[in-house]
Amino acid sequence: MDLIEALNWRYATKKFADKKLSDEKLQKILDAIALSASSAGMQTYRVFVIENPDIRKELASDSFNPQIVDSSHLLLFAAYDSIDQEIIDDYIHFVARERGLAVENLADFKKSLESHLLIRTDEENFIWSSKQAYIALGTGLIAAAELQVDATPMEGFNSEKLDKILGLKEKGLKSVVLLSLGYRDEENDYFAKLKKVRLPKEEFVIEVV
Ligand SMILES: Cc1cc2nc3c(=O)[nH]c(=O)nc-3n(C[C@H](O)[C@H](O)[C@H](O)COP(=O)(O)O)c2cc1C
Repeated sequence: MDLIEALNWRYATKKFADKKLSDEKLQKILDAIALSASSAGMQTYRVFVIENPDIRKELASDSFNPQIVDSSHLLLFAAYDSIDQEIIDDYIHFVARERGLAVENLADFKKSLESHLLIRTDEENFIWSSKQAYIALGTGLIAAAELQVDATPMEGFNSEKLDKILGLKEKGLKSVVLLSLGYRDEENDYFAKLKKVRLPKEEFVIEVV
């Protein structure tokens, strides 16, 4: 399957079969997610692999998404709830170490991060970090399709409840979006056989010549 075939094959799966995803495929999807582009490369979000069945049951109890419990694996993308000087300093040191540079060589980059990020409110930086998490979600969806793994992106869950269950506030994080992974129950998923609905390309793509 080439890329476009795989993207046509995928759909937001509503009903998963009782079949587990191999750890090899899960790790590939996580590797792809980690390789996502992010603004300034800061990766100001984290990905949780939620295996605990009790947590998944609790989370599904007030959600319209049974995929939270039915899927093989459940990923959570959680974004930094704020950005401070320490986060920027740690990142600069990390880049310097990884690239074998002196920290002083990154002084302009550091100044630029400080001048953009430290003047914003926590809410503005959370929204910015959430955008990076959504890019990673997209990468995860494409990676899953490439591996013929079914997936559902989900905003339909109680994020405040999940934040509490996972103690995210203490970790400086807030829930953004979920991604269920597994294999479709083709017979029982009404959506599995539906035509994909997308705008005609002529309407969607606007050429500026
Ligand atoms: C950010 C985001 C949140 C979504 N939330 C849900 C959700 O909570 N439950 C669900 O079943 N589908 C959810 N979807 C799936 C969309 O409804 C689906 O992607 C869209 O209808 C296009 O269909 P397709 O992905 O099957 O091609 C979400 C998709 C995105 C990108």
